Amino acid sequence: MPQLPVPPARGHIRHPPSAVSSRRAGWVYWPFRIAITIATVLLFNQAVFAGQFLSGTYASLQIHRNNATAAGVTVVVATLSAVLIRWPGRGAWWPIPACFGLSALIGVQIALGLNRVLAIHIPLGVAIIVLAVLLTVWAWRRHRPPSASSPTPRLDSPAVTEESAL
Ligand code: HEM
Repeated sequence: MPQLPVPPARGHIRHPPSAVSSRRAGWVYWPFRIAITIATVLLFNQAVFAGQFLSGTYASLQIHRNNATAAGVTVVVATLSAVLIRWPGRGAWWPIPACFGLSALIGVQIALGLNRVLAIHIPLGVAIIVLAVLLTVWAWRRHRPPSASSPTPRLDSPAVTEESAL
């Protein structure tokens, strides 16, 4: 008579340690998600304030200026948050230089704005907003933590029964 596989008893299913630690490691993305989303909203608002100023609401220029500082500080916070994704999260490293580059571009953008070099200031502003949006889209994507990257479940893993491994 063929032997039927015996399912594990209730309450005894244990997940592989890698899956448990990867779920715990998910928090490392949240500071970056929050910081880069706020930065993107602030950067997008720059175009709104610029438009108001160009339409004759002169007070919007001061708001544009203050908002530039707020956006710059928030991108610096996003850069620090990106470090958490790599250490201890062991995730992607490239958001760190990407955010660092974005902070540098904002510095250049502020200098161009204060010196009224609008021929570069406006297209660079658009490029900065696009880069920030791309980083935000990446931040909110589902990330597979590297600790769970084992391609096939191991036979000796506690969660794998003989039946599921076939
Ligand atoms: C993306 C980030 C941006 C930053 C950090 C930034 C920063 C600045 C700063 C510091 C000033 C000088 C304000 C002052 O003189 O009090 C300025 C001026 C200005 N910016 Fe921006 N800006 C950004 C984006 C934009 C965008 C997207 C536009 C247009 C679509 C724009 C249009 C202008 C205009 C029209 C001025 C006024 C120049 C003048 O006084 O003649 N800026 N910006």
